[in-house]
Amino acid sequence: MQKILILDLGGPYTQHVARRVRECHVYCEVFPAARMTVEAVRAFDPIGIILSGGTAGVSSPNAPRVDKALYALGIPVLGICYAGNLIALDHGGTVEPGEDSRCHSRTLTKLDTDHVLFREHPEDAITWMCNGERITSLPEGFTVTASTANCPVAAFACEEKGLYGVRFHPEVPYTKGGVEMVRQFLYRVCGAVGDWHMETYAAETIQSIRERVGDGNVVLALSGGVDSSVAAALLSNAVGSRLTCIFVDHGMLRKDEGDQVEAIFSRMDLNFIRVNAREQFLSRLAGVTDPEEKRHIIGEEFLKVFEAEAARMGAVDFLAQGTIYPDVTELCHNYADVLQSPHKTGIHPEHIRFKELLEPLRPLFKEEVRALGRTMGLPETLVNRQPFPGPGLAIRIIGEITPEKIRILQEADHIFRSHLESAHIHDHITQYFAVLTDTQTIDITGADRSPKYILALRGVTTDDFMTAKWARLPYELLDNISHTIIQNVPEISRVVYDITSKPPATIEWE
Ligand code: XMP
Repeated sequence: MQKILILDLGGPYTQHVARRVRECHVYCEVFPAARMTVEAVRAFDPIGIILSGGTAGVSSPNAPRVDKALYALGIPVLGICYAGNLIALDHGGTVEPGEDSRCHSRTLTKLDTDHVLFREHPEDAITWMCNGERITSLPEGFTVTASTANCPVAAFACEEKGLYGVRFHPEVPYTKGGVEMVRQFLYRVCGAVGDWHMETYAAETIQSIRERVGDGNVVLALSGGVDSSVAAALLSNAVGSRLTCIFVDHGMLRKDEGDQVEAIFSRMDLNFIRVNAREQFLSRLAGVTDPEEKRHIIGEEFLKVFEAEAARMGAVDFLAQGTIYPDVTELCHNYADVLQSPHKTGIHPEHIRFKELLEPLRPLFKEEVRALGRTMGLPETLVNRQPFPGPGLAIRIIGEITPEKIRILQEADHIFRSHLESAHIHDHITQYFAVLTDTQTIDITGADRSPKYILALRGVTTDDFMTAKWARLPYELLDNISHTIIQNVPEISRVVYDITSKPPATIEWE
């Protein structure tokens, strides 16, 4: 399989670059630029290299660099934004400081449409341009391939050396047709043939699982979320009834979710164990209000329940996990940590007696996992399932968790979600849910004017979960939802809609 190597220089969009490359059916991997020696690059054997953007300026003292020997490997290199400047500087060009290098804007850009990267584009394009440093003179043998009113060198190339630079980000949607530019680099410059497809991945992975597992047994922690469900389908296809899926129901799932997961998986040719551990979780969570403590307790209890079940099976040969690529990519910028650390209810392999770990989704992005799920014949309701945090409703009930609050939230959340689904709006919203606040306001409908809970509704659209916009829901729909909730959930006196984006807020409330 052909591979593209992406070297991360610390910019915020590195993961987008990787996703665009994969969308073009070319396999790629991301590595931190600082740790990739030229020997390691050779060993990786890529057909092309993409250097990502960065947050510093190339002339700042700690600016990330690449080994210049990289340019002489005979492998085409595309430098994006910061890396475009770096390529120019490394070859004797001049780069001068500009405005803040983190500041980007949509910019009218004149493209040389005879140039290989821009052949499919109109001459006047909109690009997501960095307002930082500017290339004021290009090295000898390099030509300008795009410019803007303020930036005479918005893109350049030295075809003879296989070097290409763009001062904008083709990988983000703000650059119109940017993915086509990436495609041109892959197919016309690097000679990609497009051999990365989920059908092939499924067939090859099933085969390799069979070879690795032999007649051993496999145990998988199944949450009912997309990743573990697709992993279950893949493993089940590979080893059939030698797979056991353990589904720990902690009692804080959405309404009817536990039964739905059970219904789907008990139909498959695998051993499905549902452990109802609601009491165990709720008793440990009694009186706990701190969100991180809630997460910690849930993680611990989850592990205990899972371990106890696995121990009953005796020695396990293989422990499988639904780890995906964003969980393991080492990106230089801060967001990688934000998404990784608290968000996987991680099983610590050292706690379970097993011989080997299987992670069949490890190289895949979320969209690829969904595509793989479709290839495996999983129902659309499961493949399209929105992300649901491991601790579940525990972090959507602000303050103390009680059985009554869980019931109230489940009912209200169900009404909210069903309305969006009936209005066919849910497909355009990445994540939507209700939050039970711990604030109460007066309800004037009852004789006693007793205080009741405020319920918050949240809907966001996002591509990467690092930033998110609040979803613009029609007023009529919101009105309908609010009425239905108030009528059917008597413990709620008020419904509010969260209109905060991320940043500054997070998607969840806790
Ligand atoms: P935030 O709230 O950090 O959420 O903006 C980003 C994404 O992560 C999910 N999330 C979690 N997922 N365990 C999880 O498995 C958690 O503790 C957790 N906290 C947040 C959140 O639903 C969103 O998709």
